[in-house]
Amino acid sequence: MIQTYNRKQLEQLKEEINQHNYRYYVLDDPSVPDAEYDRLMRQLQAIETEHPEWLTPDSPSQRIGANPLSAFSEIVHQIPMLSLDNAFSDEELLDFERRIKERLKSDAEIEYACEPKLDGIAVSLLYRDGLFVQGATRGDGYRGEDISQNLRTIPSIPLKLIGEGWPRILEVRGEVYMPKKGFEEFNRRALAADEKPFVNPRNAAAGSLRQLDPKITAKRPLEMCCYSAGLVEDGELPDRHTQVLQQLHQWGFRVNDQMSVVRGIDACINYYRQLGNKRDQLHYEIDGIVFKVNSLPLQQALGFVSRAPRWAIAYKFPAQEEMTRLLDVEFQVGRTGAITPVARLQPVFVGGVTVSNATLHNMDEIERLDVRVGDTVIVRRAGDVIPQVVSVVLAQRPDDAEVISFPSRCPVCDSEILRNIGEAVARCTGGLYCSAQRKQAIKHFASRKAMDIEGLGDKLVDALVDEGLVETVADIFNLRSEQLSKLERMGDKSADNLLKALEKSKKTSLNRFIYALGIREVGEATALNLANHFGSLEKVQTASEESLLSVPDIGPIVAKHINTFFQQPHNLDIIAQLRTAGVHWPENEPRPVAELPLQGKTFVLTGTLERMTRDQAKAELQALGAKVSGSVSAKTDYLVAGTNAGSKLSKAKSLELEIIDEEEFIRCLSEWRA
Ligand code: IVH
Repeated sequence: MIQTYNRKQLEQLKEEINQHNYRYYVLDDPSVPDAEYDRLMRQLQAIETEHPEWLTPDSPSQRIGANPLSAFSEIVHQIPMLSLDNAFSDEELLDFERRIKERLKSDAEIEYACEPKLDGIAVSLLYRDGLFVQGATRGDGYRGEDISQNLRTIPSIPLKLIGEGWPRILEVRGEVYMPKKGFEEFNRRALAADEKPFVNPRNAAAGSLRQLDPKITAKRPLEMCCYSAGLVEDGELPDRHTQVLQQLHQWGFRVNDQMSVVRGIDACINYYRQLGNKRDQLHYEIDGIVFKVNSLPLQQALGFVSRAPRWAIAYKFPAQEEMTRLLDVEFQVGRTGAITPVARLQPVFVGGVTVSNATLHNMDEIERLDVRVGDTVIVRRAGDVIPQVVSVVLAQRPDDAEVISFPSRCPVCDSEILRNIGEAVARCTGGLYCSAQRKQAIKHFASRKAMDIEGLGDKLVDALVDEGLVETVADIFNLRSEQLSKLERMGDKSADNLLKALEKSKKTSLNRFIYALGIREVGEATALNLANHFGSLEKVQTASEESLLSVPDIGPIVAKHINTFFQQPHNLDIIAQLRTAGVHWPENEPRPVAELPLQGKTFVLTGTLERMTRDQAKAELQALGAKVSGSVSAKTDYLVAGTNAGSKLSKAKSLELEIIDEEEFIRCLSEWRA
């Protein structure tokens, strides 16, 4: 049946789509399934095809991308888009407040708005009678480029304001950025298609907005978050900055979810520290915190100096990317023989620490970067992630820069290096003959989540292997006090402590022991599944590949690794030696996994737990069969929220998930265990 529509129904449909759009892209709180949204959109497109005379620029169908331009035209900002002064230390922030108080000739406590400084591209959006009419880049602050066509494609930018009461002319300013996930996904696809990836999300956002063909921009995962109003005519806004943003939010704009109002500069410093700790968990990149005097009349009174306001400052985080020189490349051998090229760098302060080594991952990466010894490179260190070389500054390449060649023999044991077809990783074939692999295997065995041998750190393992005191993990339990105390920097007391720690570690659990063996691709979770499923080491050892496949999360590759491991006589020999030395664990009745009380349930842990660490909570949950995930989604069954829980908690609330606090969690744990 062909349905006919009138103009009013079309407007209602547009309104409905706008609402869904707002819920999805601005509030992160979808109101309908994707399929329903798509259906409404197709309906809209059908009506507009039928009635082209009804098509308006604010229609949600107009985000898909207009025809390409040959160049961007210039626009003049009626109110200049200025920049911000930076602070790099607490002292500079204190100076900022001192200057404000001097200027205001008042010592009264000042209220500040605190906002993350988004690392993207500043834009200006102009609305006339509630309709988006023009969007521009900041340019030099006075003149920018008209990128309206590209901005239209960004779903979090309203084409038509929601609600009512907006000024006839309203300019909204903010930042367009590419969220971290979208950036990674985009780069993954670019690499797969042999295209050049972007160096960082900021460049990705800039590159996407600079496209003359808006259809390209439309495919990029961009978001826009607003941070102020600009030109306002025929209408009024509240007189506090944060209230202005709340108002803009109600009219359809995204505002930052971490925004906070505080009193006094000490509270600003506090906010800076707290957000610094959370920086890696945010879904977008930030490079500092912006503090703004919240009262607009006070902002007016303070005014501007040269190109920046006196009432705001950006307190920058330590840069996560810096330039330095690549001095050399060394090839390290991992536990499974994987050869990793490591860049030796001219030490550089980046991401808050001095970095002198960075990973180059593998040979493909070296070729992709086209990096050579002697090059100036950009090094990135974000949070606790291993520092990486992200790109080469080709313009600074010296004439004698040296091409890097991958070794054909292991730099430690001289065994042949092989690379399986289809794998990026090349491996030393020396196995336990290779002292590098032996050292790594012992370090893994002793590590906290494995046998947890306190005091047996990396340096000591290196020394024990180099001195010939230890060859395999079984040998560490035969160490004697007089052998240990002869080692450099090891007195009688530390030798004694180590022996005690070794003794203590002998009492372990089956899952820890399996994990400690260091079987390829068998991490903590898989080890636990194996222990739960089979209940005894003998059964795991003798399991066929087929029966291994019935263990959750084990596929053919992992099954093969496990099977191969237990077929090697020297591995069985080491296990026997360990047991003779006294390593033991309680034998469980095998618990078919489906019987575990939390089988199939997904948990997310957030905030600070007071009575246990997150690792402990995670291990407890996994032992009960639950999956522990890092992010909240509709698939989450429970959110365990400790103190100071942030965005995960808000998301869980908006999805109406089951939320439990620590006390309740502990109570439930004992019930589930029973
Ligand atoms: S306010 C007059 N707030 O930082 C003050 N800027 O260095 C105008 N930025 O060009 C800027 N997040 O692109 C402001 N929450 C925020 C921001 C922010 C990022 C960028 C913006 C601006 C640059 C200034």
